[in-house]
Amino acid sequence: MSCQTDHPSVSRPGADWIIRDAVPDLDAAACTEIYGPYVRDTSVSFEEAVPSVEEFEGRIRKTMATHPWLVMEVDGRVVGYAYATQHRPRAAYRWTAEVTVYVDGRHHRAGVGRRLYTELLGRLRRQGFRLAVAGITLPNPGSVGLHEAMGFEPIGVYKRIGWKAGAWHDVGWWQLDLQPGTTAAPAEPLPPMD
Ligand SMILES: CC(C)(COP(=O)(O)OP(=O)(O)OC[C@H]1O[C@@H](n2cnc3c(N)ncnc32)[C@H](O)[C@@H]1OP(=O)(O)O)[C@@H](O)C(=O)NCCC(=O)NCCS
Repeated sequence: MSCQTDHPSVSRPGADWIIRDAVPDLDAAACTEIYGPYVRDTSVSFEEAVPSVEEFEGRIRKTMATHPWLVMEVDGRVVGYAYATQHRPRAAYRWTAEVTVYVDGRHHRAGVGRRLYTELLGRLRRQGFRLAVAGITLPNPGSVGLHEAMGFEPIGVYKRIGWKAGAWHDVGWWQLDLQPGTTAAPAEPLPPMD
């Protein structure tokens, strides 16, 4: 099973909900804590071992050199994060951002994912990225629901592409045109910005 059981939300949007850039050394522990259960107990992530806080801090730092990494705080606690990376390393892919979001199970279905993605996708547009893509281990109705709610369209499915927890898993791909109607040659993506 690759999706989580949704828990009743414990908070509703208000002035105490803040989205901000991650601060690698301050936020790595909270992000690792949110991510850990999805590594340990599900196939949402294809990692097999929960990364250390130090490893996670390095990932945040490396990502933020080129792409946004955002966290959402509710009542001063980080309850979710979202970030983007270059989809694949070859040069021609550099206008395509692969996006990811993880929300603490106690805060599901309260609008955290939607808010994080709204801010993330806005920033990617302002940086000049053309396309956002997301790979989702299936089934995952929460993630499919969020991506489609944000306007992503399904593209196709890699069948049995990952082996985890004693089973093969499919990964579906979704994409969103970040600059609809723009087909001209792109300018270089700008550095991360607010
Ligand atoms: C996927 C995930 C990030 C969604 O975050 P969230 O904060 O719970 O989502 P939101 O409350 O912002 O929901 C926004 C919209 O997404 C859709 N959605 C969210 N959860 C859904 C679910 N379980 N089933 C169907 N649609 C869902 C709905 O359209 C929802 O809008 P609505 O509540 O007004 O109907 C969250 O479930 C999660 O962290 N899951 C585990 C990690 C994961 O799968 N990450 C994605 C990796 S690809």
